[in-house]
Order: sequence, then C-alpha cells, then structure tokens
Amino acid sequence: MKPSVLVTRRLPEPVLQKLKAKCQADINYEDTPLSKEEIIHRVADKDGMVTLLTDKIDRDIIDAGTKLKVISNVAVGYDNIDYHYARQKNIYVTNTPEVLTEATADLTWALILSVVRNIVPADRFTRQVKFKEWQLFLFLGSDLKGKRLGIIGLGRIGRAVAQRASGFEMEVVYYDIQRADRELEKRLKVTYLPLDQLLKTSDIITLHPPLTSQTHHLIDQKEFQLMKPGAYLINASRGPVVNEKALVEALKRKSIAGAGLDVYENEPRIEPELLAMDNVVLLPHIGSASLETRTKMAMIAIENVLQVVYGEKPTNYV
Ligand code: GLV
Repeated sequence: MKPSVLVTRRLPEPVLQKLKAKCQADINYEDTPLSKEEIIHRVADKDGMVTLLTDKIDRDIIDAGTKLKVISNVAVGYDNIDYHYARQKNIYVTNTPEVLTEATADLTWALILSVVRNIVPADRFTRQVKFKEWQLFLFLGSDLKGKRLGIIGLGRIGRAVAQRASGFEMEVVYYDIQRADRELEKRLKVTYLPLDQLLKTSDIITLHPPLTSQTHHLIDQKEFQLMKPGAYLINASRGPVVNEKALVEALKRKSIAGAGLDVYENEPRIEPELLAMDNVVLLPHIGSASLETRTKMAMIAIENVLQVVYGEKPTNYV
C-alpha cells in the first residue's frame, strides 16, 4: 500500500501532482487552515503531514498521529511546531531553507526603502489627487548612503540582506549569538558588534533571527530605549521577536522614526495603534511571496515528506 500523507492547506497543483503520484494524499484544497480537531482526525492514519505556518502543531496533534514519521513545514521557520516533542517521538520535522533567502532579503529591502522614503503615504497622497505641484519639502525621507545598517541574526537571510547593502553604500554591522568567521565578515564587509552597541549606533535595525525562547522579545522596552533617536526598525522574521506594545510606545514617544513590519506578535492580529501610524509600513507576512519561491518551497516540502515516507533521511530536517 502507498504511504499516506495529509496536506493541511492548498499548495500549487504541480506540486500536489507529484505527491499524488507517489502517495495516498488527503489534501485540504481550501486556502484556509483546518481546525485543530480536523487535523487530529485526519492525521490519525497518516505516515506524513505537510503543514503551513498557520498550523499550530502541538502535542495533541503529534500524539494523534500514531503512525506519523514526518511533519514537513512549508516555511523556513518552524516555531509553529512543537519540534522538541516531535523529535522525542522520533518524528522528523523538516523545513524549506535556502530557496526563500533571496525573496525574503528583497522584501526586507522593500520595507527599508518604503519606510525611509515614505513610499506608502506618498502613494496614498498621489492616488487622492493631492499632487498639485512639485514641492521641495514634499515627503522628505532619509538617505541610505553612509548610514549604518544593523543586522540582528546573520543567518542565510541576514547575509543576503548584508550583500544588498553594499549597493546602497551603507556601513553594515551585525549581532548574532555566534560571531561569524572573519573570512565571511570580510567577504560581506560586516563588522560584529555586541547587541547594545548595535542598537545604540544603527540608523536602521533589521531583524533576522529564528524565533526561539532566547529570541522571544529580543527587542523590548529596554532595547527601544537604547536605539538611536530617529532609527528605523525592520522585522521580516517572526513577530514575537519584538514586544509589539513596546514598539507602539517607542513610536508614540518618537524615540524611533518608523518601522517596517511583515510579521506581528499575534498574527494576524496587529496592535490597533500601528494601523493608524503613517511612519509604519505594514505587510501581511509576504516575505517569501514570489510565485517562484513559494512554488519551490512547496516542492521541497513535498520532497522532504516523500523521502521520509519512503524510508530515506530527509534533506532538510531541523
Ligand atoms: C516564512 O515566514 C517562513 O518561515 O518561511
């Protein structure tokens, strides 16, 4: 009998075809998440499952999958899965690294440019037919050249963000729990700084760590107080890395100039005060959302699940 796999949410059709050719696939064709009860019910007889970051895969679900050998997440982050528990039960958890690095770094730069050059309010102004004449003082933002970019988390995405910074002639500093080797620092033209020094001296701070118990609220009230007045904060990693209430306070006090956010602490809920602020760019978690990248992510997730249900070690286990 073919192995059986649950897919919790719609994926691109060519990707599903590949799965269906090799497995008995139980697919939720809707682009909305299944309820926990539904997942528990449908995972019970499955060898593998393909999940999205909107699925919270907790102990109850893992326990319900009595035959389960793999949970394959269509994302690089896997904080939506109790992976410690899965590992205890010898269930592989896999992710989709690398393919989304460039798309996410591009989106980070889209946020940086949007926020420092007032792109969103300027677009709104133009659509409202308020552009009556060129004005010297209209929507003045800040230059990037010569400014300091502080990257927190120099993993794959952080490194791709650093590479792009040289095109803008910025000075790049970084903080990571593990300092990179000197060769890499030289190649990327980045300088290591302790976190407080990075916060105190950077004009733009961009966050790229995974969400773990150590990085939860890494940027909190104290960190906002350390930031340079007029700094910008960019977050395209995971919402809970920032205490969103402390962010609102820092913006209200004007101790930072603005923020560009793709992720939120209690997604999809957003602190209501952020919605009313013009110096904040808000995106609906679209860091990796290019057609090519999302298709590759789904394909890799399927390959990971197939490897395990056919008795191989998956390429991308965490
Ligand atoms: C998206 O947020 C991902 O982790 O892939």
